[in-house]
Amino acid sequence: MYDYSFLEKLMFPHRPLHKKKLRSHLKGKTVVITGASSGIGEQTATLFAGPEVHLILIARREDKLQAIKKDLIKKGAHVTIMSADLRDDAELNKVTHELLQLERLDVLVSNAGLSINRSLEASQDRFHDFTRTMAINYFAPVKLVLELMPLLAKSKGQIINVSTINAILSPLSGWAAYQSSKGAFDIWFRSSEIELNRLGIRTSTVYFPLVRTPMIEPTASYRKAPAMHAEHAAELIGRLIICNKKIHKPWWLLPGQVASVFVRQWGRRGA
Ligand SMILES: NC(=O)c1ccc[n+]([C@@H]2O[C@H](COP(=O)([O-])OP(=O)(O)OC[C@H]3O[C@@H](n4cnc5c(N)ncnc54)[C@H](OP(=O)(O)O)[C@@H]3O)[C@@H](O)[C@H]2O)c1
Repeated sequence: MYDYSFLEKLMFPHRPLHKKKLRSHLKGKTVVITGASSGIGEQTATLFAGPEVHLILIARREDKLQAIKKDLIKKGAHVTIMSADLRDDAELNKVTHELLQLERLDVLVSNAGLSINRSLEASQDRFHDFTRTMAINYFAPVKLVLELMPLLAKSKGQIINVSTINAILSPLSGWAAYQSSKGAFDIWFRSSEIELNRLGIRTSTVYFPLVRTPMIEPTASYRKAPAMHAEHAAELIGRLIICNKKIHKPWWLLPGQVASVFVRQWGRRGA
C-alpha cells in the first residue's frame, strides 16, 4: 500500500489495520495526542478522527493545529486544540490544569519530541540543546503522566510512549542530546509501568525506526535512507490501541542492536 523500495518493504512489513476495530475501541473515548501539529502525531490524529472520539491535540504551532482541526471536523470529529510549548513550566501547568477539568481521559499518546544531531565540538556553546531536549523529551512527558495518572486510572486508560530505536541502540556519536533524553523517558516509563498498571492504566511503547517526517529533514544522510511512512507509523500506534501489546519494535531490532555495537567500534577506530 505504501510507496516503499524493496528494502523498505522488507524492513517495514505492512499489515493493514482493522479500522472498524479501531473505531469501536475509540468509541466514546477522549484521546490526547501531544505533538499533533506534524509528522507522526498529525497522522495519528487523522487516523483516529471520527464522530465517536474526542481528540485533544497539543503542540506549539496554533495555525497548524487550526488547519488540522478544520480538516478533521469535516470527518465529523470532535477536536479540541491546545497550543502550548510543553518545555515551558507555566504553559505545561496550564495544559495539565485544562486537561484535569475533563470528565474522562482514555488515551495519552505521548509523542511530542525534538531531535538534534550535533557533534560535541559543535555543541560547545550550545548547552541549551541538552536542556531543551530533556525538557520536551523527558520532563514534559513525566509531568503529563504524573498529573494525568488519576484521570487515566479512573477510566482504566492507556499511555502510549512514542519512542525510538535509538533509545535502545548502542549510543551513537552526534546523537547524545536526543538519545539520552529519549532514553531517559524510556527508562522512566519502564520503571513506572508496574505502578501504572497496578492503577489499571495500560502502558505501551512503540520503538520507531526512521520515519519520514519533518523531524528528519535537516539530516542530509537520512534523505536517501530507508524510512517508514508517517501514516504507517500512525497505524502501528492504532494497533497498540486494539491489541493488548506492551511493545512494538521492528523485527530486525536485535541484529540492529548488534550492528550498532560495530558502528560504535568503527567510530572509535576513526578517533
Ligand atoms: N521521525 C523519526 O525518524 C522518528 C523516529 C523514532 C521516533 N520518533 C519520535 O516520534 C515523535 C514525533 O516525531 P515526528 O517524527 O513526527 O517529528 P515532527 O514532525 O517534528 O513532530 C514533532 C511534534 O512535536 C511537537 N513539539 C516539538 N517541540 C514541542 C514543544 N516544545 N511543545 C509542544 N510540542 C512540541 C511539534 O509541534 P510544534 O513544532 O508545533 O510545537 C510536532 O507536532 C517524537 O517523539 C520523535 O522522537 C521519530
